[in-house]
Amino acid sequence: MKGIWLVAWAAAGICFGQTAKTNPLAGDPQAAEAGRGVFRVYCSPCHGIKAEGARGPDLTLGVFNAGSGDADLFAVIAGGVPGTEMPAFAARFADEHVWRLVAYIRSVKKESAAAKGDAEAGEKLFWGKGACGQCHMVNAKGGRLGPDLSRAGRQRSLAYLRSSVVTPGAEITPGFATITVVKNDGSKVVGVQRSIDNYSAQLMDMKENIQSFWRSDVKSIGREFKSLMPDYGKTLSATELDDMLAYLTRLKGEETKR
Ligand code: HEC
Ligand code: HEC
Repeated sequence: MKGIWLVAWAAAGICFGQTAKTNPLAGDPQAAEAGRGVFRVYCSPCHGIKAEGARGPDLTLGVFNAGSGDADLFAVIAGGVPGTEMPAFAARFADEHVWRLVAYIRSVKKESAAAKGDAEAGEKLFWGKGACGQCHMVNAKGGRLGPDLSRAGRQRSLAYLRSSVVTPGAEITPGFATITVVKNDGSKVVGVQRSIDNYSAQLMDMKENIQSFWRSDVKSIGREFKSLMPDYGKTLSATELDDMLAYLTRLKGEETKR
């Protein structure tokens, strides 16, 4: 079946090379459908089953940091985004599979559901009343206990950011689990995971001190899947939450050099 398709394409002289500037399969509903199947398996864990984003960004908005052309989407899927969770798929997929994924992404474009709040007000809240800056950095300013949010609006979907603020424990950012150490005298040290293995653990405590413990020296070391981030569901009003999300979605890190 697959062989027949390839022969048909070859006969039609379709070029699948990375050099193609536009998708040779653009507008082909069968290609988009095949792309959907691949997407479900390889991409949905991060981008959501309908590409609306989860831990990874929403791909249905029709605007991409990677650039607006088919070739830009091809390049980001094939090459990944180094230093982020977005893997490179070039080794796993032949070019035509990547083009099918591009066709699928184009097929799910919908009108934007951008955050509707006031980003300036959100920024004030972030550094002021919300005290988010005590634990989070934005552009090299702020605390180090939580993840750096300089690229939050680029890396994460609106839905994910909302749930991170309202129910922080729902999905812990990988590498930021809470570690609780109970010492032999019964006292406890709580912090954010830096490293943990069978023998030892290293954590950052609430004062940003790194502390290391050997399991043999303490009563217990536990990793908990709850967040050290306070739950803002009740402390922020609906308007404040919208403002905060408008601010967070605007954080795109350094401008991409292209
Ligand atoms: C482990 C999580 C993960 C997986 C799996 C994953 N992605 Fe991503 N993807 C991301 C993250 C995070 C980003 C944002 C990277 C950044 O900061 O620029 C991203 C970015 C992208 C972008 C660029 C978005 C933009 O605005 O520039 C595209 C397109 C994309 N992914 C498509 C895919 C496709 C197609 C697959 C499956 C073949 C896939 N991704 C699998 C996490 C993932
Ligand atoms: C006491 C420290 C602390 C404060 C204050 C705090 N956070 Fe967090 N935050 C964390 C930690 C730790 C994590 C990682 C664990 C998790 O996923 O909840 C986190 C995770 C996040 C994430 C998910 C990041 C990602 O990329 O996965 C977002 C978004 C976030 N915080 C936003 C905020 C905002 C907005 C505020 C203020 C309204 C805030 N935080 C206040 C500690 C804090």
